[in-house]
Amino acid sequence: MKNCAERLVEIFGSQAEVARSFSLDRAVVNNWVKSGYVPARWAMEVERVTGGRIAAVEVLNEAGAKRPVRVKSRPDGKNLFRTTLGSETMNSYAPAKRIQSFHPPQRTLMGPGPTEIHPRVLTTMSQPAIGYLDPVFVEMMEELKSLLRYAYQTNNSLTFPVSGPGSVGMEYCFVNMVKPGDKVIVCRNGVFGGRMIENVERAGGTAVVVDSEWGTPVDPQKFDDALKKNRDARLAAFVHAETSTGVQSDAKTLVEIAHKYDTLVIVDAVTSLGGSPVKVDEWNIDAIYSASQKCLSCTPGLSPVSFSDRVVDYVKARKDKIHSWFMDMNLLLGYWGATTRTYHHTAPTNSLFALHEALVLIREEGLENAWARHERNHIALKAGLEAMGLKFLVKEEYQLPQMNAVHIPEAMQSREAEVRRTLLTEFGLEIGAGLGPLAGKIWRIGIMGYSCRPDNVMLCLSALGSVLADMGLPVHVGDAEAAAHSAYAQLHAKAAAQKQKHKDRATA
Ligand SMILES: Cc1ncc(COP(=O)(O)O)c(C=O)c1O
Repeated sequence: MKNCAERLVEIFGSQAEVARSFSLDRAVVNNWVKSGYVPARWAMEVERVTGGRIAAVEVLNEAGAKRPVRVKSRPDGKNLFRTTLGSETMNSYAPAKRIQSFHPPQRTLMGPGPTEIHPRVLTTMSQPAIGYLDPVFVEMMEELKSLLRYAYQTNNSLTFPVSGPGSVGMEYCFVNMVKPGDKVIVCRNGVFGGRMIENVERAGGTAVVVDSEWGTPVDPQKFDDALKKNRDARLAAFVHAETSTGVQSDAKTLVEIAHKYDTLVIVDAVTSLGGSPVKVDEWNIDAIYSASQKCLSCTPGLSPVSFSDRVVDYVKARKDKIHSWFMDMNLLLGYWGATTRTYHHTAPTNSLFALHEALVLIREEGLENAWARHERNHIALKAGLEAMGLKFLVKEEYQLPQMNAVHIPEAMQSREAEVRRTLLTEFGLEIGAGLGPLAGKIWRIGIMGYSCRPDNVMLCLSALGSVLADMGLPVHVGDAEAAAHSAYAQLHAKAAAQKQKHKDRATA
């Protein structure tokens, strides 16, 4: 019986063709053939690329059977590496239990992030390390910046990934732009608007809070009123895609309002970037930050930011010292700027390789196609969830495709953690819980980046339907899947009709 690597070569005709079909280096495929198996992380991709001729589960089973070679462990209590002094003192700090290499299980990630990571991104991340000032790396940094400009739809020259999660990008914007004593209008319609207020206060500013109900978008009228009342506020901030509720606010309108009062705006695009339209130049956004682990589907720990020239001048004009050494824009530009490359901090090189590859994938797919994919899968997921009797928290016109928040049926509220635990243990599926006042009241189902696929949508509907039915909810198993299938079929038919129309027009 042939192994999966040999079967791939048989299907595609040669190792070179396998490599081409997976956009991989030939050496990687050669390694699969030599070692007699395809690593588990490629399971889904193998199933997809072979159109199901090799099932993901076959790859997983085969890879699982090939245990990593283990060096025989020393017996407990025996010290192989006795120091010359024969001292045992350091061993008293050793962990009490024997710790082995960590092997995370295979999960389907459909929570609020992180998302699943494309195999190409994982492979790129495991390439050999190089120095952060290596000329090859420096060249890659320039490509990375231009790919980020594409993702953000901007020509801002200050566009780069800050080392650190989305929270660091948020802090980077506030600490550079807010001076002690500044008044900042902050819109809050969920958890992350609340964090913006914290950031303003910690930077020494005063936040004027514009509250909108959780689950609704930022109210443009309230925002306008606050700006009118506080004409001395030079800054404002809002969250474009509020992950805690699944609502999207009208970024273009809010920025337009702020600019009427000559106020600069900071926008949180952590959950929107790559999943739904973010158009920095067209919408005149002044400062924006995001995160690598949501719709960009990269490893967590990087936060792409972009400042307009006006913001760069605004920060440069500050007379006081920025209250963070690490996040000081002027110092960071010594490493990420257009002309200089000097040591600032040790950049997370392999994570940056990964972000480069994640953005190459978006470029290959096309940003608009990525937005459309999120919308398509959202429509199917929604059809299924509603067929199951679940109701969305957010009104249809404000729903984020990538973050779907549904009310937990009352009968399930006391057992909601059990539902999520069962999904995780029995189906390997992670969905998100509610935060703050919505804890125990909603589930958050994310379809972001590489996790945003029909197979995940169908798994989620089947698994959730099955768990809820088992726990006594009157869910008809199969109804949700049928509704999602029908939604996909309608979308396909519409797309085919549109394509035909274009063709007819071209030949007319
Ligand atoms: C809207 C929003 N802003 C900021 C953050 C903070 O990002 P991170 O968790 O990467 O620090 C998150 C995280 O989920 C978020 O959803």
